[in-house]
Amino acid sequence: MARQSVQRAAERSGGGTRRINGRLLARLIGEAPVERPYYLAIAKAVSGLVLDGRVPSNTRLPAERDLAAALGVSRNTVTAAYAWLRDNRFLESRQGAGSWTVLPDSGTSEPSPFGPAAEHIDLGLAAPAAVDGLRAAALRAAEQLAAHVGGLGYYPYGLPELRHAIARRYVERGLPTTPEQIFVTNGAQQGVALAVDLLVQPGDEVLVESPTYPHALDAARHAGARLRTVGVTPQGWDMEYLVDAFRQWRPRLAYLIPDFQNPTGALMDDDERRVLVREARRAGTHLVIDESVAELAIDSGDLPAPVAAHDTEGRVLTVGSVAKLLWGGLRVGWVRTTPPMVARLMAARQRFDLAGAVLDQLTATHLFADVMRIRAERSRQLRRNRDALLRALRERLPDWRPNVPGGGLVLWAALPQPVAGALSAAAVRHGVHPAAGPVFGADGTLERYLRLAYTQPPDVLADAVERLAAAYTQTLAHPVQPRGQLYV
Ligand SMILES: Cc1ncc(COP(=O)(O)O)c(C=O)c1O
Repeated sequence: MARQSVQRAAERSGGGTRRINGRLLARLIGEAPVERPYYLAIAKAVSGLVLDGRVPSNTRLPAERDLAAALGVSRNTVTAAYAWLRDNRFLESRQGAGSWTVLPDSGTSEPSPFGPAAEHIDLGLAAPAAVDGLRAAALRAAEQLAAHVGGLGYYPYGLPELRHAIARRYVERGLPTTPEQIFVTNGAQQGVALAVDLLVQPGDEVLVESPTYPHALDAARHAGARLRTVGVTPQGWDMEYLVDAFRQWRPRLAYLIPDFQNPTGALMDDDERRVLVREARRAGTHLVIDESVAELAIDSGDLPAPVAAHDTEGRVLTVGSVAKLLWGGLRVGWVRTTPPMVARLMAARQRFDLAGAVLDQLTATHLFADVMRIRAERSRQLRRNRDALLRALRERLPDWRPNVPGGGLVLWAALPQPVAGALSAAAVRHGVHPAAGPVFGADGTLERYLRLAYTQPPDVLADAVERLAAAYTQTLAHPVQPRGQLYV
């Protein structure tokens, strides 16, 4: 995002609407390596937090004396750190208004509106090919159509047998659910967009993770939401920050992906889920929980119960989809919520469409009967691909630091330098399309990251990494210089 627009945002909001107190910032800084001079270590740590989106832009930093007290250093040290951050355009200050974070220009180019050419390798789209058995299920669905063609074919809440199958799957996962709680949509994105459309008014605060799924951000922005972010890394959520966010903003809605979070792969544990629902209840927040890849565990082990299992008052709307488990070409998703909310979602849908395709829903219903086999097949396939991609990265790009996700479809790779935008542009010239970190940030942060989907077979992934390595060498030889020097 251009510095000017961030600055305008800061000016509109009077210079930093989110605050971070000295104790919390000191704790986040404390995770960074300590070096001398200490003011520079503090400054670099804060700039890293801003670039990673863990301290969002437009956050008001604590007064110098408060941070100094929390860190146990002299006020002069913090004054020097803030001065460095100002010189390097991570911080703006106004007499009497304090100091708030901003983002320096990143050199990120605009994403192309066109998809990759056919011979290119697309690591940006996290969508696997259809599971075995899809064709057979579709043929059976076509045969069954005879029983439906005499009727109107409009099922605005979803095909009854599919609502049953989805509810039964929740029961199997430990969450009592009736078919009346299921609203079938044309994919998860429609569920997210409808929930946001229904619940968010212009100006409402909406809490999202940083990084997160970009089309959910689109939906929230379109509704006129004021986006607030909470950081998540492959190690998980900073729960203190999350609790603080609910208490400070009391957001109208929070959108989270607790299962193999897109793009970090983080998995929220049971205790954290309990805390999340508790804080949402206290703050009066609707929780939209995106479970798009919840069924895509790669490594064995018990999975936590769905977030909605901790909800006693219908505060959680759980969004699901068959796109990643079965096939994206089956446009079938759903929202699990209370029956009254199902009715409201159905009314809201009518502005956009009236019902989903019967043939797709019949096909999905058949495949649900076979869900355990399909899960095992996906898990094998994704483990093979993930490990192949990790191996290739280790060999060809050993200074990158990819996570090792326990599920989902993507790696989140940390780069040694904040060059994701320039590298992605160079990669396209080498015929490979990664997704640059800033795509997943609410405010253009995350230049140190790339998201790489491992939905393709090992030989294709190895070829893709060769191309990425060539693009990386080229990027380092001709870096796009951000305005102001970055030390991260
Ligand atoms: C987290 C998340 N939510 C929603 C979607 C959209 O899913 P669908 O194709 O079911 O609309 C995706 C697809 O990439 C996703 O990763």
